[in-house]
Amino acid sequence: MVVDDRLAGLLRGAARVAVLTGAGISAESGIPTFRDAMTGLWATSRPEDLATRDGFRRDPGFVWGWYRARRLAAAAAEPNAGHRALVALESQVPELTLVTQNVDGLHQRAGSRDPVELHGNISRMKCFDCDGPADRFHDGDEVPRCGHCNGLLRPDVVWFGELLPRAALERAHRAAGRCDLFLSIGTSNLVEPAASLPWLAASAGAPVIVINTTAEGQRPGPGIDTLLGPAGTMLPSLVHAAWPDLAPE
Ligand code: OAD
Repeated sequence: MVVDDRLAGLLRGAARVAVLTGAGISAESGIPTFRDAMTGLWATSRPEDLATRDGFRRDPGFVWGWYRARRLAAAAAEPNAGHRALVALESQVPELTLVTQNVDGLHQRAGSRDPVELHGNISRMKCFDCDGPADRFHDGDEVPRCGHCNGLLRPDVVWFGELLPRAALERAHRAAGRCDLFLSIGTSNLVEPAASLPWLAASAGAPVIVINTTAEGQRPGPGIDTLLGPAGTMLPSLVHAAWPDLAPE
């Protein structure tokens, strides 16, 4: 895949890069996306049962089991060439902020330094009642209890109807508002507030490069370029086009 010189030049010339990732970047690690018509998690499971406070109240064991299976799958998965290309990019750019909607921890395992986790992390847990962090990691199939208030523990991820962690959202907004290039990778742009980040960057004058296997759901507009293809191929190509001397992985 040959990336055109103009896009490579934009990346090479950017002092501040903001990156937003979604489930698509982990797809090539074998982690299902949410909205793929055939294999997406929301094709076979109902978000209102599995990703809301009401769903957890109705059947905590079911919700716990579903996230436990996802946590085990994430732990068994390996970061892919897309995750690794972002680590390489971080080593070349003076200031890079990686914002992810993913809860699988694969960016950290690839070596990204301090990703902003907008939707939490599936390997952490917190109390459904007092919201305090779990005093230790629990991996059983029974829903564990909070050591502080005896409430039920839940995964520390953001559910529909909940607010995003404030500090993470502030970092994401700040990075999008002041970057001189924004990369939006593997997200359907359907869930706010993450979905607005590319347009925040674009309206502040930054060029936006979208990497996705489909153009569906991506807002075209001036200053927005789309590289159609899998992140595990397109991202290494883009980084290599900008820095041809960078050692291939
Ligand atoms: P989605 O499942 O909505 O979208 C995944 C996107 O990745 C789609 O646009 C696909 O076309 C694209 N894609 C698939 N494979 C790809 C690949 N190999 N390379 C590049 N792109 C690829 O996932 P998100 O946009 O991350 O929130 O979903 C956003 C939020 O909705 C999630 O964080 C989750 C979900 O409900 C919560 O659970 C709160």
